[in-house]
Amino acid sequence: MRTPLIAGNWKMNGLADAATVLAGQVVDAVSAVDGVDIVVCPPACHLERVATAIAGSNVALGAQNCAEVPLGARTGEVATEMLADLGARYVIVGHSERRQFYAETDELIAQRFQYALGAGLRPILCVGETLEARESGQTEAVIAAQVDAVKTVLGESGFGDGIIAYEPVWAIGTGRTASADQAQAVHAFIRERVSADLRILYGGSMNAENAESLLDMPDVDGGLIGGASLKADAFAAICAAARQ
Ligand code: 13P
Repeated sequence: MRTPLIAGNWKMNGLADAATVLAGQVVDAVSAVDGVDIVVCPPACHLERVATAIAGSNVALGAQNCAEVPLGARTGEVATEMLADLGARYVIVGHSERRQFYAETDELIAQRFQYALGAGLRPILCVGETLEARESGQTEAVIAAQVDAVKTVLGESGFGDGIIAYEPVWAIGTGRTASADQAQAVHAFIRERVSADLRILYGGSMNAENAESLLDMPDVDGGLIGGASLKADAFAAICAAARQ
């Protein structure tokens, strides 16, 4: 049985006080939700204060990125050991914004995935096609390359405790969600390439209104939420919709 997982990706939003307030509001709003793994991923500079704010609650801490090498000379990066030390249990790797704006490659992302697992974190590997790729019939080829890059680095069973998030680039921050059937088709395609117990999340304009229909699909095991995770009530409604 795959436990549903809802993760909030706060992206580069919120100053310190706002992060503390939001974390507290999320803790209150989801306190009665059981049977769902709930994660918030604040910006790296707010990890420590959010860790304090969620301590003892049913909300776990995640980071948005990590380095692909151990502690050492990598100016500006944050090592997986540092994230674990701060109490993070999850880390997003290969978000499409990192692929697009920071030219992260499949290989680099696979190495980050590997280091995250090595530090005892659960990496959330983001995959997804652009609108251009979808319209030219390349969706499956793009997703296969992104997923298989991890297999190349870690071997067939290398996903470990990791998680995959299918986030079609054209659905991120656009208000244009994939239909439940579109999401299910890609999730089923990913499922064939990974183990049956790996959790596959959907991300891209998921909100309190559309969450239920997406989460009802057999291979949609949760959500990676951007904009709606910045409002505790909306985020809590999505968490409630994921309850088994
Ligand atoms: P939105 O929910 O704002 O579309 O963002 C999705 C996302 O990128 C989560 O990682």
